[in-house]
Amino acid sequence: MKEWTKEEKKRILDEEDLPELEKLHEQILKSRWRCDYHVQTVTGLMNDPNGFCWYNGKWHLFYQWFPFGAVHGMKHWYHVTSEDLVHWKNMGIAVMPDTWCENNGCYSGSAFIEDNILYYAYTGNSRDAQNQRSQYQLLGKMDERGFHSKYPEPVIFPSKDYTEHQRDPKLFRREEDGKYYILHGAQNKELQGVLLLYSSDTISEGWILCGELKVRGYDHFGSMAECPDLEKIGDKWLLLFSPQGLETDREGFENRCHNIYFIGDMDFENLEFIPDGQYEELDRGFDFYAAQCAFQKQYENTAVLEAWVGGVEYTYPPTDEEGWAGLQTLPRELTIEDGKLMQRPARNVDALKGELLFEAKNGEILQNKTIGTTPDACVISVQNPDLESFTLNLFAEMNHKGFEISYSKMTGQFTIDRSDMTNQINTEYGTKRTISLPQGMKSLLVFADHSIVEIFVNDGEYVLTARIFPTEQERQLRMNGKNVDMSIWQANKTVDDDFVITEAEE
Ligand code: FRU
Repeated sequence: MKEWTKEEKKRILDEEDLPELEKLHEQILKSRWRCDYHVQTVTGLMNDPNGFCWYNGKWHLFYQWFPFGAVHGMKHWYHVTSEDLVHWKNMGIAVMPDTWCENNGCYSGSAFIEDNILYYAYTGNSRDAQNQRSQYQLLGKMDERGFHSKYPEPVIFPSKDYTEHQRDPKLFRREEDGKYYILHGAQNKELQGVLLLYSSDTISEGWILCGELKVRGYDHFGSMAECPDLEKIGDKWLLLFSPQGLETDREGFENRCHNIYFIGDMDFENLEFIPDGQYEELDRGFDFYAAQCAFQKQYENTAVLEAWVGGVEYTYPPTDEEGWAGLQTLPRELTIEDGKLMQRPARNVDALKGELLFEAKNGEILQNKTIGTTPDACVISVQNPDLESFTLNLFAEMNHKGFEISYSKMTGQFTIDRSDMTNQINTEYGTKRTISLPQGMKSLLVFADHSIVEIFVNDGEYVLTARIFPTEQERQLRMNGKNVDMSIWQANKTVDDDFVITEAEE
């Protein structure tokens, strides 16, 4: 695998680089693991979703982007848009690391809309001549024509009371006091992860540190808390963030870093979040991190979430070698029902469904056009209120299980298993994920797309995300189960894979 030098990782995109990037993109297009309906990096590496919002009649999503290869180098923001959260268009580069306070990358941040302007608060990652790091919270904006401009000075300078890790601002406004707030992640001097809350009367200046936002019952979270978000859903608050180094003995929590949430109430006066219960993982699969919710008023009592299908320090050698890495999840709608977080694919998801390839009712096959092959891009639905046992092998091979999804009523366990695939990734964190389903498995919705499988269990009670890299030989589709009702649709291609780098104004 290519070794990247410091200089190569520090490259900033320039007009002159376009032919090189175009060549890389052409090469990437040949990959068998490019997706049909997931937002994927145009070239190089994608990580966190940024600035997700509904603005000017469209969904806008930006992502952390290093253009030149599959390595965490100098981060830029790339821009994609959608009208329905299903079809996505590449728009081009949006934010460049071109000022002194972001000389080591434009890090993650969030969107906020006011007076028909899309504001984005983000972190400038900066290093001085001694390589000393400082992280500043910066502000940029985009107007209706797609014209971007940045505020020249940081809106928040690093606090001396915390280490160099102070990043990922979530900008929001509270109706009750009319104030603007920024919540961001930080590390205290004891090297513990905390959340800092700032407030101001205006967006562009006057920000003061209110203090740490404490979660009642906890002092800190691991060694660093990244990408916090705070959303009001109905009359409850959802607090989510991605702590590094969190140790939890409960079922799950097997990934290197976790993306967790609390449901509860917010006490702004006392800077306290009062959780209703313990924290939970947003996703129970392998590859999921840095989730953020959109700034939007389109969907009532609902948050719309995107996340990076990846993880801190994970590598994905099959596509890293091809010069690209990283996808975004399908957008999810989050609701709180009977005190529980439910996550479902965004409401227009049926637009993904193409031809019906397979149908079984009560175990009887009514039609089958799959010829025993897993379609590279498909949607699979299983509807059985009282399923006994079930096994689905995607991208399998003779004597090999491929990617296995299974459930047994006897053990009450639902499992995904990628241990028997040829291309193995990040195996130090295990190759299976299991969830106990004491109430049984009632439904499954599986989205497979070349190199990703996302599984929604029991109508959004749990979601599991997994990257996989099936080889040309791994093509079989096998299933086993009593009285199963199951349908498989070919999935439509809904995400552009064209080479757009220079952002056009509209
Ligand atoms: C999370 C993260 C953020 C940071 C960004 C840099 O994956 O480490 O904390 O802003 O990625 O790309």
